[in-house]
Amino acid sequence: MTITRIRKAVFPAAGLGTRFLPATKAQPKEMLPLVDKPIIQYGVEEALASGVDNILLVTGRGKNAIEDHFDVSVELETFLESRGKLEMLAEVRKISNLINFAYVRQGEPLGLGHAVLVTRQLVGNEAFAVILSDDVIDADPPALKQMIDVYDRVHGPVLCVERVPREDISSYGVIAYEPDPSLPAGVYRVTDLVEKPPVEQAPSDLAIIGRYILTPDIFASLEETAKDRTGEIQLTNGLRHLLRSRPIYACEVDGVRHDTGNKLGFLKAVTYFALKRPDISGPFRDYLRSVLEGRV
Ligand code: UTP
Repeated sequence: MTITRIRKAVFPAAGLGTRFLPATKAQPKEMLPLVDKPIIQYGVEEALASGVDNILLVTGRGKNAIEDHFDVSVELETFLESRGKLEMLAEVRKISNLINFAYVRQGEPLGLGHAVLVTRQLVGNEAFAVILSDDVIDADPPALKQMIDVYDRVHGPVLCVERVPREDISSYGVIAYEPDPSLPAGVYRVTDLVEKPPVEQAPSDLAIIGRYILTPDIFASLEETAKDRTGEIQLTNGLRHLLRSRPIYACEVDGVRHDTGNKLGFLKAVTYFALKRPDISGPFRDYLRSVLEGRV
Protein backbone atom coordinates (compact mmCIF):
# COMPACT_ATOMS: atom_id res chain seq x y z
CA MET A 1 0.00 0.00 0.00
CA THR A 2 1.30 3.45 -0.84
CA ILE A 3 1.70 5.73 2.16
CA THR A 4 -0.34 8.88 1.71
CA ARG A 5 -0.93 11.98 3.72
CA ILE A 6 -3.83 11.68 6.19
CA ARG A 7 -6.57 13.62 4.39
CA LYS A 8 -9.77 12.32 5.98
CA ALA A 9 -11.12 12.28 9.51
CA VAL A 10 -14.13 10.22 10.52
CA PHE A 11 -16.28 11.66 13.31
CA PRO A 12 -18.63 8.99 14.70
CA ALA A 13 -21.60 10.93 16.05
CA ALA A 14 -24.46 8.46 15.81
CA GLY A 15 -24.54 7.43 19.47
CA LEU A 16 -27.64 8.16 21.52
CA GLY A 17 -25.93 10.24 24.21
CA THR A 18 -27.99 8.64 26.98
CA ARG A 19 -25.74 9.98 29.74
CA PHE A 20 -26.96 13.48 28.95
CA LEU A 21 -30.68 12.82 28.92
CA PRO A 22 -32.94 14.74 28.99
CA ALA A 23 -30.67 17.37 27.32
CA THR A 24 -30.01 15.00 24.42
CA LYS A 25 -33.58 13.91 23.78
CA ALA A 26 -34.03 16.38 20.91
CA GLN A 27 -30.49 17.66 20.31
CA PRO A 28 -27.21 15.83 19.77
CA LYS A 29 -24.69 15.86 22.61
CA GLU A 30 -22.05 16.92 20.07
CA MET A 31 -23.82 20.30 19.90
CA LEU A 32 -23.63 21.03 23.63
CA PRO A 33 -21.42 24.12 23.94
CA LEU A 34 -18.20 24.55 25.87
CA VAL A 35 -18.70 28.27 26.55
CA ASP A 36 -19.97 29.25 23.06
CA LYS A 37 -18.61 26.60 20.72
CA PRO A 38 -20.23 23.18 20.22
CA ILE A 39 -18.13 20.24 21.39
CA ILE A 40 -17.81 18.81 17.90
CA GLN A 41 -16.35 22.03 16.52
CA TYR A 42 -13.32 21.67 18.80
CA GLY A 43 -12.59 18.33 17.12
CA VAL A 44 -13.20 19.67 13.61
CA GLU A 45 -10.84 22.60 14.25
CA GLU A 46 -8.23 20.16 15.60
CA ALA A 47 -8.47 18.13 12.39
CA LEU A 48 -8.06 21.22 10.27
CA ALA A 49 -5.10 22.47 12.32
CA SER A 50 -3.54 19.02 11.80
CA GLY A 51 -3.76 19.31 8.01
CA VAL A 52 -6.88 17.14 7.61
CA ASP A 53 -9.58 18.89 5.64
CA ASN A 54 -12.13 16.21 4.71
CA ILE A 55 -14.56 15.45 7.48
CA LEU A 56 -16.76 12.35 7.30
CA LEU A 57 -19.50 12.59 9.87
CA VAL A 58 -21.33 9.44 10.89
CA THR A 59 -24.77 10.54 11.99
CA GLY A 60 -28.09 9.05 12.87
CA ARG A 61 -31.63 10.06 13.68
CA GLY A 62 -31.93 13.43 15.42
CA LYS A 63 -28.50 14.71 14.38
CA ASN A 64 -29.61 17.32 11.82
CA ALA A 65 -28.36 20.17 14.00
CA ILE A 66 -24.78 19.01 13.35
CA GLU A 67 -25.27 19.18 9.56
CA ASP A 68 -26.91 22.60 9.86
CA HIS A 69 -24.11 23.86 12.07
CA PHE A 70 -21.44 23.17 9.47
CA ASP A 71 -23.60 24.34 6.57
CA VAL A 72 -23.89 27.88 5.19
CA SER A 73 -26.65 29.86 6.90
CA VAL A 74 -27.59 32.57 4.40
CA GLU A 75 -30.25 33.97 6.70
CA LEU A 76 -27.89 34.35 9.65
CA GLU A 77 -25.09 35.76 7.52
CA THR A 78 -27.38 38.38 5.97
CA PHE A 79 -28.65 39.37 9.41
CA LEU A 80 -25.15 39.76 10.88
CA GLU A 81 -24.01 41.72 7.81
CA SER A 82 -26.99 44.09 8.00
CA ARG A 83 -26.25 44.76 11.68
CA GLY A 84 -22.56 45.38 10.99
CA LYS A 85 -21.53 42.45 13.23
CA LEU A 86 -18.59 41.64 11.01
CA GLU A 87 -16.43 39.82 13.51
CA MET A 88 -19.26 37.43 14.32
CA LEU A 89 -19.97 37.06 10.60
CA ALA A 90 -16.37 36.02 9.96
CA GLU A 91 -16.58 33.51 12.83
CA VAL A 92 -19.79 31.99 11.43
CA ARG A 93 -18.41 31.82 7.87
CA LYS A 94 -15.15 30.25 9.02
CA ILE A 95 -17.00 27.11 10.09
CA SER A 96 -18.63 26.38 6.74
CA ASN A 97 -15.81 27.59 4.48
CA LEU A 98 -12.79 25.81 5.78
CA ILE A 99 -13.46 22.21 5.32
CA ASN A 100 -15.25 19.62 3.17
CA PHE A 101 -18.00 17.76 4.96
CA ALA A 102 -19.61 14.47 3.95
CA TYR A 103 -22.27 12.64 5.91
CA VAL A 104 -23.09 8.99 6.20
CA ARG A 105 -25.96 7.53 8.20
CA GLN A 106 -25.34 4.64 10.51
CA GLY A 107 -28.98 3.56 10.56
CA GLU A 108 -28.81 1.74 13.87
CA PRO A 109 -26.21 2.55 16.52
CA LEU A 110 -24.51 -0.84 16.46
CA GLY A 111 -21.29 0.31 18.08
CA LEU A 112 -18.20 2.36 17.35
CA GLY A 113 -16.68 -0.37 15.16
CA HIS A 114 -19.84 -0.43 13.08
CA ALA A 115 -19.84 3.40 12.85
CA VAL A 116 -16.33 3.22 11.35
CA LEU A 117 -17.34 0.38 9.05
CA VAL A 118 -20.12 2.42 7.40
CA THR A 119 -17.50 4.94 6.18
CA ARG A 120 -15.72 2.28 4.11
CA GLN A 121 -16.80 3.59 0.68
CA LEU A 122 -16.11 7.22 1.58
CA VAL A 123 -12.68 6.52 3.06
CA GLY A 124 -11.54 4.24 0.24
CA ASN A 125 -8.07 2.76 0.18
CA GLU A 126 -6.13 5.22 2.32
CA ALA A 127 -5.12 5.71 5.93
CA PHE A 128 -7.47 7.97 7.86
CA ALA A 129 -8.12 9.48 11.27
CA VAL A 130 -10.99 8.81 13.66
CA ILE A 131 -11.90 11.51 16.16
CA LEU A 132 -14.36 10.94 18.98
CA SER A 133 -15.45 14.48 19.63
CA ASP A 134 -16.36 13.69 23.27
CA ASP A 135 -12.65 13.81 24.00
CA VAL A 136 -11.68 17.44 23.68
CA ILE A 137 -7.90 17.80 23.81
CA ASP A 138 -6.27 21.17 24.33
CA ALA A 139 -2.80 20.70 22.88
CA ASP A 140 -0.14 22.51 20.91
CA PRO A 141 0.69 21.03 18.45
CA PRO A 142 -2.83 19.59 18.15
CA ALA A 143 -3.25 16.00 19.39
CA LEU A 144 -4.02 14.64 15.92
CA LYS A 145 -0.93 16.37 14.48
CA GLN A 146 1.22 14.72 17.15
CA MET A 147 -0.24 11.35 16.12
CA ILE A 148 0.28 12.02 12.41
CA ASP A 149 3.95 12.67 13.15
CA VAL A 150 4.12 9.21 14.74
CA TYR A 151 2.24 7.67 11.78
CA ASP A 152 4.72 9.22 9.35
CA ARG A 153 7.42 7.32 11.19
CA VAL A 154 5.78 3.93 11.79
CA HIS A 155 3.45 3.74 8.75
CA GLY A 156 0.87 1.74 10.67
CA PRO A 157 -2.22 2.27 12.81
CA VAL A 158 -1.62 4.62 15.76
CA LEU A 159 -3.92 4.73 18.79
CA CYS A 160 -3.95 7.60 21.22
CA VAL A 161 -3.49 6.36 24.79
CA GLU A 162 -3.45 7.92 28.21
CA ARG A 163 -2.57 6.59 31.66
CA VAL A 164 -5.78 6.45 33.67
CA PRO A 165 -6.34 5.69 37.37
CA ARG A 166 -7.01 2.04 38.19
CA GLU A 167 -10.57 2.70 39.30
CA ASP A 168 -11.45 4.13 35.87
CA ILE A 169 -9.73 1.56 33.67
CA SER A 170 -12.78 -0.62 33.03
CA SER A 171 -14.50 2.22 31.14
CA TYR A 172 -11.89 2.06 28.36
CA GLY A 173 -10.24 -0.11 25.76
CA VAL A 174 -6.87 -0.99 27.28
CA ILE A 175 -3.63 -1.99 25.56
CA ALA A 176 -0.90 -4.44 26.43
CA TYR A 177 2.42 -3.29 25.02
CA GLU A 178 6.07 -4.10 24.82
CA PRO A 179 9.05 -1.78 24.93
CA ASP A 180 10.64 -1.07 21.57
CA PRO A 181 13.91 0.86 21.80
CA SER A 182 13.59 1.98 18.18
CA LEU A 183 10.49 4.03 19.07
CA PRO A 184 10.55 7.49 20.67
CA ALA A 185 9.47 8.00 24.30
CA GLY A 186 5.69 7.77 24.67
CA VAL A 187 5.27 5.53 21.60
CA TYR A 188 4.51 1.83 22.15
CA ARG A 189 4.18 -1.33 20.17
CA VAL A 190 0.77 -2.84 20.99
CA THR A 191 0.70 -6.58 21.80
CA ASP A 192 -2.97 -6.93 22.75
CA LEU A 193 -6.14 -4.90 23.28
CA VAL A 194 -9.04 -5.52 25.65
CA GLU A 195 -12.33 -3.63 25.65
CA LYS A 196 -13.50 -2.49 29.10
CA PRO A 197 -11.63 -5.12 31.18
CA PRO A 198 -12.43 -5.71 34.85
CA VAL A 199 -9.71 -3.94 36.90
CA GLU A 200 -7.90 -7.16 37.81
CA GLN A 201 -7.70 -8.21 34.14
CA ALA A 202 -6.50 -4.89 32.73
CA PRO A 203 -3.19 -5.54 30.94
CA SER A 204 -1.85 -2.05 31.74
CA ASP A 205 -2.96 1.42 32.78
CA LEU A 206 -2.76 2.73 29.20
CA ALA A 207 -6.30 3.39 28.00
CA ILE A 208 -7.30 4.19 24.43
CA ILE A 209 -8.81 7.67 24.18
CA GLY A 210 -10.76 9.24 21.33
CA ARG A 211 -8.18 9.53 18.55
CA TYR A 212 -7.06 6.88 16.08
CA ILE A 213 -5.11 6.73 12.87
CA LEU A 214 -6.25 3.65 11.00
CA THR A 215 -5.23 1.90 7.83
CA PRO A 216 -7.90 0.70 5.37
CA ASP A 217 -7.36 -2.98 6.27
CA ILE A 218 -9.32 -2.19 9.47
CA PHE A 219 -12.50 -2.51 7.39
CA ALA A 220 -11.91 -6.18 6.55
CA SER A 221 -11.13 -6.82 10.23
CA LEU A 222 -14.32 -5.09 11.35
CA GLU A 223 -16.31 -7.20 8.86
CA GLU A 224 -14.98 -10.28 10.62
CA THR A 225 -15.45 -8.98 14.15
CA ALA A 226 -18.29 -10.60 16.06
CA LYS A 227 -20.83 -8.50 17.94
CA ASP A 228 -20.24 -8.32 21.68
CA ARG A 229 -22.73 -9.29 24.40
CA THR A 230 -24.61 -6.02 23.90
CA GLY A 231 -24.96 -6.61 20.15
CA GLU A 232 -22.38 -3.94 19.23
CA ILE A 233 -19.27 -4.18 17.07
CA GLN A 234 -16.42 -2.70 19.10
CA LEU A 235 -13.55 -0.94 17.37
CA THR A 236 -11.16 -2.33 20.00
CA ASN A 237 -12.14 -5.87 18.99
CA GLY A 238 -11.66 -5.00 15.31
CA LEU A 239 -8.18 -3.72 16.13
CA ARG A 240 -7.45 -6.92 18.04
CA HIS A 241 -8.30 -8.87 14.90
CA LEU A 242 -6.12 -6.56 12.79
CA LEU A 243 -3.21 -7.08 15.19
CA ARG A 244 -2.91 -10.66 13.93
CA SER A 245 -1.83 -9.40 10.55
CA ARG A 246 0.11 -6.17 11.17
CA PRO A 247 1.85 -4.19 13.91
CA ILE A 248 -0.21 -1.55 15.71
CA TYR A 249 1.26 1.35 17.66
CA ALA A 250 0.05 3.60 20.44
CA CYS A 251 1.22 7.00 21.55
CA GLU A 252 0.64 9.41 24.39
CA VAL A 253 0.13 13.02 23.39
CA ASP A 254 1.09 16.18 25.25
CA GLY A 255 -2.03 18.10 26.13
CA VAL A 256 -5.02 18.36 28.44
CA ARG A 257 -7.90 15.96 27.68
CA HIS A 258 -11.46 16.42 28.83
CA ASP A 259 -13.99 13.61 28.51
CA THR A 260 -17.07 15.71 27.81
CA GLY A 261 -19.20 12.56 27.35
CA ASN A 262 -19.91 12.41 31.09
CA LYS A 263 -21.41 15.14 33.23
CA LEU A 264 -18.45 15.84 35.50
CA GLY A 265 -16.02 15.86 32.57
CA PHE A 266 -18.32 18.23 30.68
CA LEU A 267 -18.49 20.66 33.60
CA LYS A 268 -14.71 20.54 34.04
CA ALA A 269 -14.27 21.32 30.33
CA VAL A 270 -16.67 24.28 30.46
CA THR A 271 -14.78 25.65 33.48
CA TYR A 272 -11.38 25.04 31.88
CA PHE A 273 -12.24 26.79 28.62
CA ALA A 274 -14.10 29.63 30.34
CA LEU A 275 -11.02 30.33 32.46
CA LYS A 276 -8.92 30.50 29.28
CA ARG A 277 -11.17 33.10 27.69
CA PRO A 278 -9.82 36.63 28.15
CA ASP A 279 -13.31 38.16 27.76
CA ILE A 280 -14.83 36.31 30.74
CA SER A 281 -12.05 34.65 32.75
CA GLY A 282 -11.68 37.48 35.32
CA PRO A 283 -15.31 37.75 36.44
CA PHE A 284 -15.77 33.98 36.11
CA ARG A 285 -12.81 33.33 38.41
CA ASP A 286 -14.28 35.77 40.97
CA TYR A 287 -17.62 34.03 40.72
CA LEU A 288 -16.12 30.56 41.24
CA ARG A 289 -14.24 31.84 44.29
CA SER A 290 -17.41 33.29 45.78
CA VAL A 291 -19.26 30.00 45.22
CA LEU A 292 -16.45 27.99 46.83
CA GLU A 293 -16.30 30.36 49.78
CA GLY A 294 -20.05 30.00 50.28
CA ARG A 295 -20.79 33.62 49.48
CA VAL A 296 -23.35 32.70 46.82
P1 UTP B 1 -20.35 6.50 23.55
O1 UTP B 1 -19.86 5.24 24.13
O2 UTP B 1 -20.00 7.75 24.24
O3 UTP B 1 -21.94 6.39 23.40
O4 UTP B 1 -19.86 6.55 22.03
P2 UTP B 1 -22.99 7.51 23.17
O5 UTP B 1 -24.23 6.87 22.68
O6 UTP B 1 -22.46 8.61 22.30
O7 UTP B 1 -23.24 8.16 24.62
P3 UTP B 1 -23.90 7.52 25.92
O8 UTP B 1 -22.90 6.52 26.46
O9 UTP B 1 -25.21 6.88 25.54
O10 UTP B 1 -24.11 8.69 26.82
C1 UTP B 1 -18.55 6.96 21.69
C2 UTP B 1 -18.59 7.64 20.33
O11 UTP B 1 -18.99 6.73 19.32
C3 UTP B 1 -20.14 7.20 18.63
C4 UTP B 1 -20.79 8.19 19.58
O12 UTP B 1 -21.56 9.13 18.85
C5 UTP B 1 -19.60 8.78 20.28
O13 UTP B 1 -18.98 9.81 19.48
N1 UTP B 1 -20.98 6.04 18.31
C6 UTP B 1 -21.23 5.11 19.24
C7 UTP B 1 -21.53 5.93 17.04
O14 UTP B 1 -21.33 6.80 16.16
N2 UTP B 1 -22.29 4.85 16.76
C8 UTP B 1 -22.54 3.89 17.68
O15 UTP B 1 -23.24 2.90 17.35
C9 UTP B 1 -22.00 4.03 18.96
